[in-house]
Amino acid sequence: MVEQRTLTPLVLVRVQVSQPLQKPLIFNGFFSLKFAFRPVLLYKRLVDTLKTENEMAFFKKKNKDLPALTKDNLMMYKRVWLTYVAPKWKLLALSIVLMLVASSFDALLVSQLKPVFDEVFLDKNRALLGRIGLIILGLYFLKGAFSYSQALVMTKLSIGVIRGMQFDVFKKLLAMDNKFYQKHTLGEILTRFGSDVATVQGAVLGSLTTFVRDSASVFFLVLLMFWQSFEMACVVFFVFPATIWPIVIFGKKMRQKFRKNREVDEKFFDQVTQTFKSIKIVKSYCTEDLEFENAKKTIYTQNKLQFSMAILNALQHPMTEFVGGVGMAATLAYGGYKITAGEMTAGNFMVFLLAIVAAYKPMKNLGTLHMTLQQGVVSMQRLFSMLDIVPDIRDKPDAEPLKITAGRIEMKNVSFSYDGEHPVIKNVTVTCEPNRTVAFVGHSGSGKSTMINFIPRFYDPDAGEVVIDGQNVRDVTLESLRKQTAYVSQDVILFKDTIKNNIRYGMPEATDEQIVAAAKAAAAHDFIMGTPDGYDTVLGEQGSGLSGGQRQMISIARAMLKNAPILLLDEATAALDSKSESVVQNSLERLMRNRTTIVIAHRLSTIINADRIYVFNEGEIVEQGTHAELVASDGVYAQMYRIQYRKSDAETANG
Ligand SMILES: Nc1ncnc2c1ncn2[C@@H]1O[C@H](COP(=O)(O)OP(=O)(O)OP(=O)(O)O)[C@@H](O)[C@H]1O
Ligand SMILES: [Mg+2]
Repeated sequence: MVEQRTLTPLVLVRVQVSQPLQKPLIFNGFFSLKFAFRPVLLYKRLVDTLKTENEMAFFKKKNKDLPALTKDNLMMYKRVWLTYVAPKWKLLALSIVLMLVASSFDALLVSQLKPVFDEVFLDKNRALLGRIGLIILGLYFLKGAFSYSQALVMTKLSIGVIRGMQFDVFKKLLAMDNKFYQKHTLGEILTRFGSDVATVQGAVLGSLTTFVRDSASVFFLVLLMFWQSFEMACVVFFVFPATIWPIVIFGKKMRQKFRKNREVDEKFFDQVTQTFKSIKIVKSYCTEDLEFENAKKTIYTQNKLQFSMAILNALQHPMTEFVGGVGMAATLAYGGYKITAGEMTAGNFMVFLLAIVAAYKPMKNLGTLHMTLQQGVVSMQRLFSMLDIVPDIRDKPDAEPLKITAGRIEMKNVSFSYDGEHPVIKNVTVTCEPNRTVAFVGHSGSGKSTMINFIPRFYDPDAGEVVIDGQNVRDVTLESLRKQTAYVSQDVILFKDTIKNNIRYGMPEATDEQIVAAAKAAAAHDFIMGTPDGYDTVLGEQGSGLSGGQRQMISIARAMLKNAPILLLDEATAALDSKSESVVQNSLERLMRNRTTIVIAHRLSTIINADRIYVFNEGEIVEQGTHAELVASDGVYAQMYRIQYRKSDAETANG
């Protein structure tokens, strides 16, 4: 984006100025009739450029609904400036100086034409021709050199600005809590990180470049015009805009039509996708005719619009030609009159015209500056709305590290809802005595995982509190809390990295021996040794390449290695076969012995030995006690147990 912006003026001026300049130098050593038409051709070119612009706008799909530049939106620019650009003021200042110098060359180059016309062409002064040629070459060279350095400096600045924003976004993203990730898709987040940041930078520095470079260019060129002919300059500034106006209006019309056309296109596309995505249904309900009728209608609407656009398009050319003709005639008449009256030289006239041509593009850039600024606003709003989120789950200013003395966890009268409407946990109280194992059982969706999430503060309950050894988890630092809880989540999370690094994630200091020991305890060692590179095997995205059970073993090994005083196991062994499960169960039991553990399990055989079992049902605890007590009381648990018992009996009998 940066390179393009900063490199265009060079190319552009070459196209607009160098051609009329070089052609006469190379092909016409003398004043010929052709030159009488030069101004006409130039003006025509200007009009043609405008026309192409309109046509381009016609095909471009952008600037649909840009936000207005309200005070608030402009304040965001101020914020970007102060936070990300101002600290790099040295680069900024250098870039501005280079831009100012580079843009003065346009006017300098154009002004060289006067002696070419008046003295070389009219007075046939050949000696001067060579000198001016050299001057022009020199000017181009300098202009190129300045533009080049400016582009480099600007690129450096832009990269710095982007980097600053990316650092902030990344830090913020890491600090966000689960609620944020629940609301925003990965795609959205990546957009913030990539394109939004780039758009903001582009809008901020792009508008700066346009503003400084183009207004300086215009300023110098206008100065040149007034210097050549004050009177004609005055006329041009009032008459010219009037002739161009119809073309501008025309362009607007075209864009409107185009927008409508695009909407219809999108509708058609949606329709077609719908139809063919559900082709099975279409066929089974025999609605092919109906679908065709619908498509036909849209295609007709499309055709109508296409035709009305074609009319506008066809009109555009003759109309711009005509407007061009009017301008041409007027300019020629006025200039010709002035020249014949001896009030102006041919050189003055040419320089004047070229200055207009050269000023056109920068003026247009300035005219669309607001659009650049508006484009930035959307991204800025998105970016800042994210940077300004204060995650609910964060350290209190006076948070102290969690000190685990015994390992007693109390969750008192906890209530929670994910969406603020449907309660998922309803006034639940759970107590885990130090170094004991507590089990949560219950049907799917009854709130077990949610409950466990409150301990490492992945979510905070809406009401009630979670207390570990007398310290409310909200009052301790998140880092100390999470370092002291090992959590094996229901859905295993693995990184695209080696098995070894996956096991020691977050514990870079763990030795290879410790890693292998943890893997052995998690019954993972054997299968790891069977992978191509053993512990150095690189896993695919989300652990692809491993079976569900193998992934679970790795995540258990990770928790074992962490060796934290609080252990949370959410269906940790659910995907394991019974042999691996009994291996893991043994090591887990050893692991649980001297720490407080909460286990969630559907397979009740794994929690029979738990010190206390809580039975969840629709966000409430309906029963609690030891396995024996619960079986004896013959409630929900006993029923669940009987069903599983019978099933496993049957399995054993069958197997
Ligand atoms: N991230 C979430 N956003 C919204 N609702 C959720 C979210 N996670 C869970 N829920 C809802 O909260 C309720 C409890 O879910 P939870 O995951 O705690 O159940 P569970 O007891 O662990 O079930 P399972 O045994 O299937 O793991 C369910 O109704 C579920 O739909
Ligand atoms: Mg769960």
